Amino acid sequence: MKGLILCAGKGTRLHPITLKHSKTLMPVANIPMLQTCMEKLVEQGIAEIGICIHPSQEADIRERIGNGESLGVTVTYIYQNEAKGISDAVKQAQPYIGEDAFLLLLGDNLIAEPLTELKADVEERGSHGSLLLAEVENPQDYGIAEVLDGRIAGLEEKPRNPKSNLAVLGAYAFNRSIFKAVRDITPSARGEYEITDAIQWLVDHNFPVTYHITEKLNMDVGTVDRWLEANRRTLDQTHGGGTIHETAIVNNCTIIAPVIIGQGCVLKDSVIGPYVSIGTDSHIEDCRIENSIILNEVHLKHISYTLKDTVIGFGSVMAGIHPRVEGSGQ
Ligand code: G1P
Repeated sequence: MKGLILCAGKGTRLHPITLKHSKTLMPVANIPMLQTCMEKLVEQGIAEIGICIHPSQEADIRERIGNGESLGVTVTYIYQNEAKGISDAVKQAQPYIGEDAFLLLLGDNLIAEPLTELKADVEERGSHGSLLLAEVENPQDYGIAEVLDGRIAGLEEKPRNPKSNLAVLGAYAFNRSIFKAVRDITPSARGEYEITDAIQWLVDHNFPVTYHITEKLNMDVGTVDRWLEANRRTLDQTHGGGTIHETAIVNNCTIIAPVIIGQGCVLKDSVIGPYVSIGTDSHIEDCRIENSIILNEVHLKHISYTLKDTVIGFGSVMAGIHPRVEGSGQ
C-alpha cells in the first residue's frame, strides 16, 4: 500500500503567512502539518509516499521534507498545476500509485484516529473505498455521508440541506477502482472534481465503500481561528506540562503551561502562556503572550499589551509597541 498526501491548495484563508510558505508546512504545536500526516502513514507501515504539490511549492516543501529520509520513507513529488479539486489530484497521482491500494490524506487535516481500519477494509475486507466520518455541528462545510447497513449509501459535497451530520474527514483508503471514478466524473458547480462525486460513482457502480466513525480529535486547519484551536487542543494533549527545548534560554519569565518553546529560543522578562507555541530561534523580551502561534525567527521586544489570539509570521520583528488608549490623549 502507498500513501498520498495532497498539499497543492493555495491556503488563501491563511494569507499573508501562506503567500510565501505552503499551508501544509504551517506548524501545530511546532510540528508542520505535513510531517504529522507523513507520520500517520509511517505508523501504518507505509514506506512510499506521494506528495501532491503545485510546482511553485516545490523548493519550500523539498527543503523541509526532502526525499523523506528523516522518516525512513521514499517521497515522490506529484504535480497538480491547477487547483481543480481532490479527484483531479488523485488523477495526477495515478502513474505513481499504479495498481496499488493507497491511503489518501488531505495535508491540512489533523486526524487523531489511526488509519488501521481504513487500510484493513481495502486490503483485507474487500472494500473499494473506506472513509473516516465524524459527527459535526456544521455539516454545510463538509462532504456529508448517508450510511446504510455499514456501507456508504450516498454523499453530497457541502449540502445546503444536509441529510446527516456525518462529515467525511480528510483520510480515505482506496483501491484502483477510484481511478475509473475520477476519470468519469464532471466538475461541480464550484469548478472542482470533487472526491465525494468520485466516491458516489463507486457506490453507483456497486463497488462497496465502507466507513468508520471517529470521536477523536479532527480538524481542518483552514482558517487562523481553526489553526489556533488545533494548536490549543494539541498542546493540551501533548504539552500539558509545558515543553521547553533544551537549547532554549529562559530568563526571568513566567511560563504558564501548556506551551512549547522551540530550539534556540531566547526569552527574557516575559509572561508566556497559556496556549503558546514558539518556533525555533525566536527572541522575546518584555512581552506577554497568550493563545498564540509564534513562528520561527521572530523578534518581539517591549510590547506593552498582551499579544493574544495571534499568529506571528516567520522572521517578523516588532519592538517598542504601545497602543493608543482612547481618551487618554496618548
Ligand atoms: C474537502 C472535501 C470534503 C471534506 C473536507 C474535509 O473539502 O471536499 O468532502 O469533507 O475536505 O476537510 P474542502 O477542502 O473544500 O474544505
